[in-house]
Amino acid sequence: MIEVYAYDPAPWQRFFRSLGFQALPTGQSTRMHGGGTAVMITPPLTAGSPVAQWIERHGGPGCAGVWIPAPDLLAATDAAEAAGCERVGAHAVSIAGAEYNFTGPFTANKGPFQCLDHVAHAVAADEMDGVAALYQKGFGASWEPMPDLTVGTEVLHSGVIRLAGLTVTLVAPGGYAGHLAGFLDANRGPGIQHAAFRVPDIVSTVLETSVAGAQYLHTPGSYYDALPGWLGYTPDDIYDLRATGVLQDRDELGSIRQIFTMAPVGGRPFFTELIQRDGGTGFGRNNIRALYEAKAQDHEGAAK
Ligand SMILES: [Fe+2]
Repeated sequence: MIEVYAYDPAPWQRFFRSLGFQALPTGQSTRMHGGGTAVMITPPLTAGSPVAQWIERHGGPGCAGVWIPAPDLLAATDAAEAAGCERVGAHAVSIAGAEYNFTGPFTANKGPFQCLDHVAHAVAADEMDGVAALYQKGFGASWEPMPDLTVGTEVLHSGVIRLAGLTVTLVAPGGYAGHLAGFLDANRGPGIQHAAFRVPDIVSTVLETSVAGAQYLHTPGSYYDALPGWLGYTPDDIYDLRATGVLQDRDELGSIRQIFTMAPVGGRPFFTELIQRDGGTGFGRNNIRALYEAKAQDHEGAAK
């Protein structure tokens, strides 16, 4: 379950409702159930409270962190603190702008989502090794660095952290221009850049949620013209993908489909992703370059 800190929960509730989450007020916070995952939206109780301080420190509302199950909450918090994580609550620690709350086992409800598939944690390039080491030492996580990806003038450093019950993609910009550097600016430092929710049939979910007001990033038509055959789609698939803007990728184990939402609140950099896994274990690495090239081609076309 992810947690959002916001002075005004209303636009965040509207956003997550449009994706299919159902609100259940629980005192200070609103807990929104989505099936195998949930979202907690928490406004500050007082002007100087830790939630208010988080919002001030990051220049506005956003995703503060994730609740993760642990068999012994105190032991998990103590172990993370002993490894160098900052303790921010009885059962909560902070790693580079991301707060992790240890909690009991998650109880699934009815809803469209299978689980929280992953969160992306954005950090500065020179912090990356230190943050990966904290996850390993503090959480017993595994760490798999990925080769750098160059897209246009931007270099993306990344790796995959697997905790019990959560996957984190650790991402860092290699330059000062692209969208990741923009996230670090707007968020005034590192933090959770996006959260991905897994669905069984992404095309249907996008069609249904669009009617409910969900807004997704536009995918240029040239992306579909250039989709290589090895991705294993059918002509019917390509029609559905093009009609909904869903992206496709594949690795040696199978394929994935994904789409990104617009930011829930204008001017704030956090956003969400929907992902469908048909055996694929990746995060859509090929789509980063394919989308960049498709957008560049569209610009060239428009300039001619
Ligand atoms: Fe992602």
